[in-house]
Amino acid sequence: MQNNYTNPNLIILIGYMGSGKSTVGVALAEQLHVDFKDLDEQIAAAYKCSIPQLFQKKGAKEFRQIENNMLLKALKNDTKRILSLGGGTPCYHNNMALIKKATPHVFYLEATPASLAARLFPQRVNRPLISHAQSESELKEFVAKHIFERNFFYRQAAQNISVDNKSVQEVVDAIASTTNLE
Ligand code: S3P
Repeated sequence: MQNNYTNPNLIILIGYMGSGKSTVGVALAEQLHVDFKDLDEQIAAAYKCSIPQLFQKKGAKEFRQIENNMLLKALKNDTKRILSLGGGTPCYHNNMALIKKATPHVFYLEATPASLAARLFPQRVNRPLISHAQSESELKEFVAKHIFERNFFYRQAAQNISVDNKSVQEVVDAIASTTNLE
């Protein structure tokens, strides 16, 4: 079968905020001896501004445009790498189509709203989309609805990895065991 992917040496991690994309990405990169890049970090470095500040300064619509431009740039680099994306990245513009065209190695780190809410509630002030939550249970309800809306995109990943009750190493092993970089 002809390989039409633009960057088959790329492993892309997607998933909701707090699902562990960056932590898993760093550990996976170390295990596979490849580079790790985080799209949010690349955006923050390019705009010399944190993501919450950029979100506030530019507004959601412009942030998504910036994110789309930076994703295009990140996908142009065809070295062996792990790339973790922002929670919303796959769900805007034609991003999920670009992601799927780039590589067959797209993993959705899936977590339940309850575990995400428990992890995210203490960090909510630094996260513009959930900073309004008054309680963990309110956040859990918000996350459940939000994931329901986003699942159309998340579920287009080549593989879902359930991360609840798994250590970082177990998630890394689950990804590494099914991925052969060229
Ligand atoms: C967002 C997730 C964040 C960041 C921005 C928007 C989202 O990234 O890109 O705050 O829409 O889910 P992380 O998932 O890395 O926290």
